[in-house]
Amino acid sequence: MNLIDRTREGFRRTFGHDPAGVVFAPGRVNLIGEHVDYNDGLVLPMPIAAGTAIAWSPQDGGIDAVALDFGGERDRHVQGSAMPHHPADWRSYLRGMAACLADRGIHTDGAKLAIAGSIPRGSGLSSSASLCVAIGRALAAASGIAEPAPQTLALAAQSAEHVWAGVKCGIMDQMAVAAGEAGSALLLDCADLQTRQIPLPHEWAVLIVQSGVTRELVDGHYNQRRQDCEAAAAALGVKSLRGASAELLDGSDLSPQLARRARHVISEIDRVRASVQAIEDRDLARLGTLLRASHRSMRDDFEISVTAVDNLVDLLNAAIGVGGGARMTGGGFGGAVVAVMAADQIERVRAVVAADYRPPCGGAAQIMIEGAGRVPAGGHE
Ligand code: GLA
Repeated sequence: MNLIDRTREGFRRTFGHDPAGVVFAPGRVNLIGEHVDYNDGLVLPMPIAAGTAIAWSPQDGGIDAVALDFGGERDRHVQGSAMPHHPADWRSYLRGMAACLADRGIHTDGAKLAIAGSIPRGSGLSSSASLCVAIGRALAAASGIAEPAPQTLALAAQSAEHVWAGVKCGIMDQMAVAAGEAGSALLLDCADLQTRQIPLPHEWAVLIVQSGVTRELVDGHYNQRRQDCEAAAAALGVKSLRGASAELLDGSDLSPQLARRARHVISEIDRVRASVQAIEDRDLARLGTLLRASHRSMRDDFEISVTAVDNLVDLLNAAIGVGGGARMTGGGFGGAVVAVMAADQIERVRAVVAADYRPPCGGAAQIMIEGAGRVPAGGHE
């Protein structure tokens, strides 16, 4: 059963009647531009087919929600009531998103909601941003109000993550989920939230492989990297590392660790610009070189990779050769690897991963294929 049908069916089972509608928000894979969003940098994520669906109906007097993927856990509450924090729990996102929309003048009413998703948690594919944006869409629909603009949804979702889950994330995931278009990468300037859709050539495909090492951004490494970047920017005398350059860094007396962090961010922003050019020039070899350089920079300078992920990236790069490339995607310390290659290479490379990569926790590697030909079901049904 597909996700939308499963969600609709779960709603019916829980509440005893059909939902009024179903909304969907995709997950995202970041092609390149890692840990630069909170440095006012440029990023290049794209929405994926997996995502979060919420079946909804209006109701008076509060929210009654069921999480179909968590054994039917329920949350019933009156909006605006005291809200306990459960870091990274789906209830925090539900309550947080309603509160953060209200902070932006968007007051939503009560609703019955059945929530289900198809993004593996801890995979670096933005399950929480997808959940938040879907919640925003469902609450607006159940309240009979227009869907908030993508930027409003994204900013509310980011606040929910900061305040309710305690992760000081940037804005990339939320914008990719709210404003991304199927088959295109989204060039996002995180300094002013300007966006440009960058369609991927039809003859290319994107492979996403789960390393099987799950990571939680709440464990502190993520916020620590953000603090490092802020310290480096302050020492270099710039508002954010977007304002720094390789020359400024070379002439500075930053500690070796902060210099490595800054070098990653400065070089990664350049790689995003070069990647957009490579996509527009349909130059897979050039894009592959940039993806490989991005991974090395994350591994050696930003120090957010782990051995299992490095092995998977090496395996993919060896299988792909010069016709593309692979890198870890997302916050780091595990999660997924993204690879871009010609669509006619996908089956061969997939077979290599299936034969040669063993996730540390056992089982087979989970693989997703995305690309211009694959259309996520966005919006409403
Ligand atoms: C997580 C955060 C994003 C971004 C990435 C790293 O996904 O939520 O804001 O910082 O890590 O690029």
